[in-house]
Amino acid sequence: MKGVVLAGGLGTRLLPLTKVTNKHLLPVYNRPMIYYPIQALVDAGVTEIMLVTGGNNAGDFLKLLGNGKEFGLKHLNYTYQEGEGGIADALRLAEHFADGESICVVLGDNIIQGSIAKAADHFRRQRRGAKILLKEVKDPQRFGVPVLEGERVVKIEEKPLHPRSPYAVTGIYFYDPQVFGFIRSLRPSARGELEITDVNNAYIETGMLTWDLLEGWWTDAGTIESLYLANQLVGQTGANNLNVAA
Ligand code: G1P
Repeated sequence: MKGVVLAGGLGTRLLPLTKVTNKHLLPVYNRPMIYYPIQALVDAGVTEIMLVTGGNNAGDFLKLLGNGKEFGLKHLNYTYQEGEGGIADALRLAEHFADGESICVVLGDNIIQGSIAKAADHFRRQRRGAKILLKEVKDPQRFGVPVLEGERVVKIEEKPLHPRSPYAVTGIYFYDPQVFGFIRSLRPSARGELEITDVNNAYIETGMLTWDLLEGWWTDAGTIESLYLANQLVGQTGANNLNVAA
């Protein structure tokens, strides 16, 4: 399984912090934000990783991360997303890199306390379809929210006004190579983007989407409030099962 970290976008919800730099280069406690999703993939045994970036300062990722030596990697792959087409549009750029293998996709602003190693193993055994990771949150209306019938996710609603479950669909996704075909069939949403939620709903229709609950805390860091929270959580407990001094 290969890994894709999505680190494009204009980060408008963090202005003016993102006026002169990319969101994923901002600090979260003692490391740049982008370190956390890369570490999460490495912890899950994923060593072939592509970073999709975009917007301003894309070159800074190369300067910061180089070939990923700090993470024990031999090389890192990069690609550039023009414009602001959404998460699924960014993922499309990884098709050549995936080259027919399954992928684990992590949004560059998602930070976790623990590990996704177990979920990755479950998906390696599942082999086909997709897997999402859910986390109970206080403010599900900010996220993709699953509609559950018993143990089955029958639909995901993007930022619903009236969430039908207390769970967020976290920005950590496992996909088989069909994902790129699904992306090609998408139409832009009301906010003008190709939505990852529509990709997941396409998998639900095939009956091939599974889910696990994510253990430990999880947060995004894409708004001022959540970035502040991410700093506090990492400062208190560390992230990716590493303590902060590590
Ligand atoms: C995106 C997805 C959403 C998901 C969230 C996780 O939202 O669209 O479904 O729950 O990431 O961080 P965005 O941060 O682009 O608003």
